[in-house]
Amino acid sequence: MKIFKTKYGHFSKDGKEYVITTPCTPRPWINVISNGDYGTTVSQTGSGYSWRTHAQLNRLTRWDQDLIKDEWGKYIYLRDEKGNIWSAGWKPVCVKPDFYECRHGIGYSIIRSKDFGIETELTVFLPNDDPVEIWKLTVHNRSRKKRTLNLYTFFEWALGQSPDWHREFHKSFIETEYNAATHSILATKRLWEVPTERGNWNTNWPYVAFHSSSIKPVSFDTDKESFLGMYGNQSMPASVREKLLKKKQGNWLDPIASLQNVLTLQPNKEKTIYYTLGCADSKEHANLLSRRYHSAENVAAAFAVMQERWDRLLNTVRVSTPDDAMNVMENVWLKYQAISGRIWGRTAYYQTGGAYGFRDQLQDSQIWLPIDPDRTKRQLQLHARHQFKDGTVYHWWHPISESGLRNQIMDNLLWLPFILNAYLQETNDYSILDEAEPFVDDPASASIYAHCVKAIDKSLDRFSPRGLPLIGSGDWNDGLSAVGLDMKGESVWLGHFIYKILSDFSIIAVKRNDGTRAEVYRVRARALKEMLNTIAWDGEYYYGATKDSGEKLGSRENSEGSVWLNPQIWAVIAGVSDERRSQQVMDVVEQKLEKEIGTLLLYPAYKTPDAFIGYLTRYSPGMRENGGVYTHGATWSVIAAAMLGRGEAAYRFYSKLNPVNRGKHPDTYVAEPYVTAGNIEGPDSKYFGRGGWTWYSGSAAWLFKVGLEWILGIRATTAGLIIDPCIPASWDGFTVKRTFRGATYTIEVKNSNHVQCGVKELWIDGERHSMERGSREKIVPPFEQGTTHSVIAVLG
Ligand code: GLC
Repeated sequence: MKIFKTKYGHFSKDGKEYVITTPCTPRPWINVISNGDYGTTVSQTGSGYSWRTHAQLNRLTRWDQDLIKDEWGKYIYLRDEKGNIWSAGWKPVCVKPDFYECRHGIGYSIIRSKDFGIETELTVFLPNDDPVEIWKLTVHNRSRKKRTLNLYTFFEWALGQSPDWHREFHKSFIETEYNAATHSILATKRLWEVPTERGNWNTNWPYVAFHSSSIKPVSFDTDKESFLGMYGNQSMPASVREKLLKKKQGNWLDPIASLQNVLTLQPNKEKTIYYTLGCADSKEHANLLSRRYHSAENVAAAFAVMQERWDRLLNTVRVSTPDDAMNVMENVWLKYQAISGRIWGRTAYYQTGGAYGFRDQLQDSQIWLPIDPDRTKRQLQLHARHQFKDGTVYHWWHPISESGLRNQIMDNLLWLPFILNAYLQETNDYSILDEAEPFVDDPASASIYAHCVKAIDKSLDRFSPRGLPLIGSGDWNDGLSAVGLDMKGESVWLGHFIYKILSDFSIIAVKRNDGTRAEVYRVRARALKEMLNTIAWDGEYYYGATKDSGEKLGSRENSEGSVWLNPQIWAVIAGVSDERRSQQVMDVVEQKLEKEIGTLLLYPAYKTPDAFIGYLTRYSPGMRENGGVYTHGATWSVIAAAMLGRGEAAYRFYSKLNPVNRGKHPDTYVAEPYVTAGNIEGPDSKYFGRGGWTWYSGSAAWLFKVGLEWILGIRATTAGLIIDPCIPASWDGFTVKRTFRGATYTIEVKNSNHVQCGVKELWIDGERHSMERGSREKIVPPFEQGTTHSVIAVLG
């Protein structure tokens, strides 16, 4: 494949690594590595932070959000006999390396560097099932002389909530000790910010943090003052300059961890040292994990099973299209970003978090559907447990403390039935409807079906007198935070969304023998559609919302924000607009909202803050939700275009968002070229085209989904696998391998007629399949588990 080389780096040939060739990328280019519980971030400078379960409530190492300096991390210094000092990453010493390379891979990062005749290779990864990270450091003497090197690790302990509001307060609860038997520093804390029945700040941090090295250290330190020196500096710590660490341990220190090891290397010889950093349940557990990962065999085995797991997860869906930029994102990076970054880690550099967003992680969990749908089911169950018995839900909640935020954002609760429907389409497993889950405020369980009904019925109660849904303090767009605070303002997008949910859920209700409800939902859906097409129609397109005052937003009457994306594309997606109107609003999208970076969320941007719209208008014009490309929402444009058979547009919308393509202009785009950005700045910004808020963005799972399901057109329904490509006419075809209900399908789509869509012939396992005439899409039935099938679709 193409490796998309720029002056900062390129993909590896198999696409599974991004190779950064200089530490000075335009922004930190990071990896978010998580095993589902423990996690770490690694930037190309060697900086980053670590956590267990929740990056904000249970942070292990200190980190301050500073994307310019990027100078908080877990570092290794090297010092040679002449007193030359450098780092195995690049920070914090920042010596200009003779050679440097950072490979961000799937589940690991490797930084290689050569300085002063010494080559180092630092691999950071996490075993699948232990709360620990391993730093494997191989040091190779490339010079002609025997070399004696001192190695010093260094990071600052956080142990609990981060950032902590009062460092001098918090440090007085931390204790450190050195355990010579396991070559490890252990750290505990007698206080945690998690509220208890005995009040706040009145419980122990229940873990034992540890840091160890496979080679016996010659010294150590846990005191920042003695390590750096008073008024010292981490680019040249006093102790490293003076050589020997001071062995301070105990409490009342400003706590750090530093281990000092000495390596002697003959010319052309190398040695490997294994470091651990982890968050154990007890001292015994910490010592066990240190010992386990001091062994080269155990580390190699843990690395191999980590890779096997990722290969298994990534290989269930493979695509091969004429576009390598699409292939590398669909096959590798979007899945990895959604799973490691969004579902497991839930944190990154632009946004450090750890909470579950009610709507966010449900949407992200769609990534599991073609991979392991049981995991989507578990996500649905988890979110059902975070619903209140009146049907409303937390906007987000913290695992560990189980505290959350309730607000008046109106769409949150509806993602439960929306994702449930996606799960049913994939699996046809209606038994999920009977799974019982409690409510946040009521231990009595109700079925998942009942949870969904509560969400829908609550939403149906929250309508304006003229029949549109109320917007409250926001719809999907959080930035519309003040449009409907008096519970009068309305959301048009939410109307489309509810219409779709009512349509889908009435089918589910019929299957569940709940015909009366199905009828109620159909009646409400019809009335809603009617209202959307009369009062929400602005003449040329749908407007976006009304304020509490009744003033329209996203309308031709407005000079700022006069056209919004979501009310157009969701009219198509939900089936609210008829064919003529659908074509008309998509023309508006292509003419007014599509730019070279993708489809803008709205245009033109708001220049003046408006307290009756919300914080969206307070962002600089063109930034984020205020007139930028908001990648998460922009992915939906692909669905709408494909539904109308606009293959060229669908592919253009996708390709413009694709970070590989945006990353071809790295000095403008600045963000990582291998993961999606949350937003790309729009034309009203001075920094048009600049990407930001990478990794932790709801766009990864959606971009994967719209690429696979709407451009390549391979999507699950209860009846089987739909084949309905909508591609650029210039493509000769493509192949997709995916599993569906336990069977494996190899699907080859041939496009020698060079059309955008329409399956003319379908062959299943060598036999021509008879098909209904007239419909564009074709359905391949489900097969027995464990079987393999070949499908050929001819477009024309
Ligand atoms: C952020 C939020 C998401 C919201 C979106 C649009 O990505 O995490 O929940 O829908 O912004 O405002």
